[in-house]
Amino acid sequence: MKVIVANNNDVAGKKAFELIKEEMDNGAKVLGLATGSTPVSMYKYMVNSDVDFSGMTSVNLDEYVGCAPDDEQSYRHFMQVNLFDKKPFAKTFVPDGLAKDPEEETKRYNKVIADNPIDLQVLGLGRNGHIGFNEPGSPFDVETRKVPLTESTIEANARFFDNEEDVPKFAYSMGIGSILKSKKIILMAFGTEKADAVKGMIEGPVTNECPASVLQQKDDVTVIVDTDAASKLA
Ligand code: F6R
Repeated sequence: MKVIVANNNDVAGKKAFELIKEEMDNGAKVLGLATGSTPVSMYKYMVNSDVDFSGMTSVNLDEYVGCAPDDEQSYRHFMQVNLFDKKPFAKTFVPDGLAKDPEEETKRYNKVIADNPIDLQVLGLGRNGHIGFNEPGSPFDVETRKVPLTESTIEANARFFDNEEDVPKFAYSMGIGSILKSKKIILMAFGTEKADAVKGMIEGPVTNECPASVLQQKDDVTVIVDTDAASKLA
């Protein structure tokens, strides 16, 4: 695990963008992408660059169950606004929050991942150490599935909604097994509220109580944190 401490999240986003560019120069065709506040600076650098993404495929980590693609709270909407509307990709995949049959939807998404092996996966980090929506206790060997969100995640995500009751309680999420199949991983985390999770991920034991700690076992993981998120590291 390579750890880069950046002065702030703008510098971190630029670094992540440069790593993506480098991988694309080396032939990467499929990017695994995340939503949330963390990757926003990276998306800004992607959007404002002259890099052509029109030959690229993206596979997103997760989507809220029950959210329509054009719902402003959906992760599909987030991706359109922050990236795809400004930098078109050849193909973009996000789980379908309105899928009628969750089992069929997870099967479909696992096939999407199998058909489009991820060259570089971008991850954020939950305050509780989650990656994707693989909350503490999640097994390390599962693929995409429908998962309940923990209270801490619902509370953290409430900032994007009018009321906490409006935050969806379930999501479709790539499993940790799917995430670990990607060739390379960049994880970003910013702010003091992520400092415990960052410490657990890098210095703690590998345990599913801190799902991100599994990344210690994978080659080619680059962690980019700001000084606040790094503040509890030894
Ligand atoms: C988002 C995702 C989540 C977030 C995490 C951090 O697609 O999979 O794991 O990366 O919850 O969220 P932010 O960046 O909003 O702090």
